[in-house]
Order: sequence, then C-alpha cells, then structure tokens
Amino acid sequence: MAELVVALDFPEAAPALALVKQLDGRVPWMKIGLELFCKAGPSIVRQIKDMGTNVFLDLKFHDIPNTVYGAVCTAAASGADMLTLHCSGGEKMLQAAVRAKKDIATPENSGPILLGVTALTSLDDAEATSVYGSNASQAATNLAKIAMTAGLDGVVCSALEVALMKKSAPPAFVCLTPGIRMGKADDDQARVSTPGNAVRDGSDYLVVGRPITKADDPIQAAEAFLHAMN
Ligand code: C5P
Repeated sequence: MAELVVALDFPEAAPALALVKQLDGRVPWMKIGLELFCKAGPSIVRQIKDMGTNVFLDLKFHDIPNTVYGAVCTAAASGADMLTLHCSGGEKMLQAAVRAKKDIATPENSGPILLGVTALTSLDDAEATSVYGSNASQAATNLAKIAMTAGLDGVVCSALEVALMKKSAPPAFVCLTPGIRMGKADDDQARVSTPGNAVRDGSDYLVVGRPITKADDPIQAAEAFLHAMN
C-alpha cells in the first residue's frame, strides 16, 4: 500500500510544525529537506516524530565513503526513519552507508530506510543527457543498479520510471517518487505523474510538497492526494 509523504519545505520550524499539527495524523510521513534542516537543525526531527509521524530526512548525501559513513550514523541518531544518498557517489559510498546502518542497528531498531537518489525529477531528457550522457530514464535505471548492488533499500526516481525499476529490482526494493502533481507541473519539476498513475505503476512512497504546503487549504489538498491514491 503506497504512502503519502509531505515535503515540509519551509524556511522556519514554526510553519512546518503548524502544518504537521493541522494534518493531525492523516499523513504517515513528513519530509525534512535542506531548507528546513539548515534552519532548525537535527532537533526538528525528534519534534516532528513526537507529533506521531515518521520522518524522512532528505539531505541527499554525496561525499567520500568515510564522510558518508559518519553522516549516516549521526543522521540516524537524530531519529530519522528514512535517509537519502546520491547514487552518483558510487558503489563504495553507498556501501559505506549500508555498513553504517548495520553498525548502528539494535535489536529494537534496524535503522533508517536508505534510498539512493537517481536522476532528479527536475531534470528533463535534455538536461539529463548533459549531466549523465543519456536520457533521464536510462540514467535513473543505471543509477538504480548501483543502489541495488550496494544493498540500499530502494531509490528515489520519477514515477514515470517506477515500472521499469520494479522489473529488475528484488521484491523488497522500494521506489519513492517526488514530482507528483494532479495535472501538469507549472514549476521546476520536469518528470511528473499523477497520484493515481504513480500508485498504479508501483510507487511505494509519493512525495508531495508545494501542491499541499502552498494550497489555500492544505488539509483539503492533502485529503485530495490521499483520495487520488486509492
Ligand atoms: O514541491 P514539490 O512537490 O515539487 O516537492 C518535492 C520534494 O521532493 C522537494 O522537497 C524536493 O527536494 C524533493 N525531491 C525531488 N526530486 C528528487 C528528490 C527529492 O523533488 N529526485
């Protein structure tokens, strides 16, 4: 059953916490990204968890293996239930993250879900080709293979690529998909899909930010996305 993740892209903790309170348990996951984390720091993770939701800490690590090993350990200690790393950091970097997760696991807590970011959903085919030398779906598939080999739990990709990913992935390998829109995107997202199509194609987690956070009525907007996922 696919789950909704609301991206709390706010410049301050107060509006993020207010929205989590307003949503009142309707949405199982909240995503903390760079904007909120750089302002509010790691304590925001625990604050949001204490309000009863899972926290996805989307900091997209991309560094040498030793640094990523340490960052996964400290990020996990913040209480985050899910973390991201760029697949383009390479297999050794991703393996260091998997090793960190194993090293910090306890009998009660097996550690955060580790997801590899493939081609950002803001990249269209032309930009993906300039970055990776191949179109977006080919680049995402190639990057996902590195994530699978390294032992990550899943990937971040566009919903347009999920069906392709799932064909070659082990059954437990999850796909988290940003770029979810009710219709066409009128912003920086390039590879978008509707909630219904994302679920139909096998997405496990659907990330929605601005269509909820910037809506006149964010609760009604969240309800509409939840409804469209069924
Ligand atoms: O506002 P919007 O729905 O576009 O938000 C999407 C969220 O997902 C943002 O927080 C963005 O950082 C994140 N994200 C993404 N594409 C990726 C990985 C993460 O849009 N490949």
